[in-house]
Amino acid sequence: MKTVAVIGATGAVGSEIVRLLEKRSFPLRTLRCFASPNSLGQHVSFRGEKIPLEVLSKEALANVDLAFFAAGSSVSRKWIPECSARCIDSSSAFRMDEKVPLIIPEINRAVLQKQRLIASPNCSATVLLMPLAPLHRLFQVKRVVAATYQAASGAGARFLQHLYDETRAHLAGESFPSPLPFPYAFNLFPHNSPLRANGYVEEEIKMMEETRKILGDLSIALTATCVRVPVPRAHSIAANVEFKKPFQMEEVLAAIRSMPGLQLFEDRSQNRFPTPTDATGRDEVLCGRFRIDLSQPNTLEFWAVGDQLLKGAALNAVQIGELC
Ligand SMILES: NC(=O)c1ccc[n+]([C@@H]2O[C@H](COP(=O)([O-])OP(=O)(O)OC[C@H]3O[C@@H](n4cnc5c(N)ncnc54)[C@H](OP(=O)(O)O)[C@@H]3O)[C@@H](O)[C@H]2O)c1
Repeated sequence: MKTVAVIGATGAVGSEIVRLLEKRSFPLRTLRCFASPNSLGQHVSFRGEKIPLEVLSKEALANVDLAFFAAGSSVSRKWIPECSARCIDSSSAFRMDEKVPLIIPEINRAVLQKQRLIASPNCSATVLLMPLAPLHRLFQVKRVVAATYQAASGAGARFLQHLYDETRAHLAGESFPSPLPFPYAFNLFPHNSPLRANGYVEEEIKMMEETRKILGDLSIALTATCVRVPVPRAHSIAANVEFKKPFQMEEVLAAIRSMPGLQLFEDRSQNRFPTPTDATGRDEVLCGRFRIDLSQPNTLEFWAVGDQLLKGAALNAVQIGELC
């Protein structure tokens, strides 16, 4: 790989992509970093060098071999068609396009061939799918009911900064201007993605559609309630999963333990299960509290937590880049 570009290199996901390209010794000769015109004149650090931030143009993208897009759907929609490089897109712009593979390497890397554009999935879908996929292979998922507890950084670097600023102001007894119609510090709210006419928010729809696409099974029923909580980083999910086939708890735990990128994280004697703080900065999705639902047959309850900026976004994108 000669020249690699990160588009959105100053953002929550893009800055992690740059960090991971260095940490994982990604084979590249030149790194180019792009952001909005507001960031012109600033730099990104990479392998001890200062990489100047550039703005997007057809000419600037002309000599790029591999491009990581992490600047939002509208930027991806506008610039991926203009870019001749192989593109890995962290936005939702092309995820449900049937010609575009939607990849979690541990789950469906076989779908990845020579496609020019590859999509990396929604962060909540990824945290759910890491434990769900090995269980689906064995027992076939019939229906999932999920509730998410999503971190501030899932809405971008500025929203995370807002949580810190508003929390400081709240503790000092001061008011603070909010982008929300209610306080965020010491509060939570149903997800801030756009509300559809059917009452679901887009984040919930993404979880439904992307789960079916990645598992390659359109028959899977899934419903979700997505909630934003005042946690800086790492999304948590409570899942109730009904399977078509009966299962034994030993089989469930064996499948979870053998899934790469997933860690069973619990100490039942201490009532200790994964928290967002445990998952922050970790590559693995952590899971626990596996228990048989007492209310209906063939149904399992579990809890999963993952750093949505790593496995939920940047790490997954870089892993796809490594496969490319
Ligand atoms: N955050 C997550 O946990 C997460 C997880 C999975 C997927 N995603 C997806 O990843 C994408 C990025 O999300 P994020 O959370 O990293 O957002 P973010 O923190 O708001 O960062 C956005 C980045 O895009 C850049 N940008 C904005 N307009 C641009 C333009 N016209 N040309 C070039 N760059 C531009 C920004 O540059 P400036 O700094 O100059 O404004 C910044 O670097 C989104 O599609 C999001 O849905 C996010």
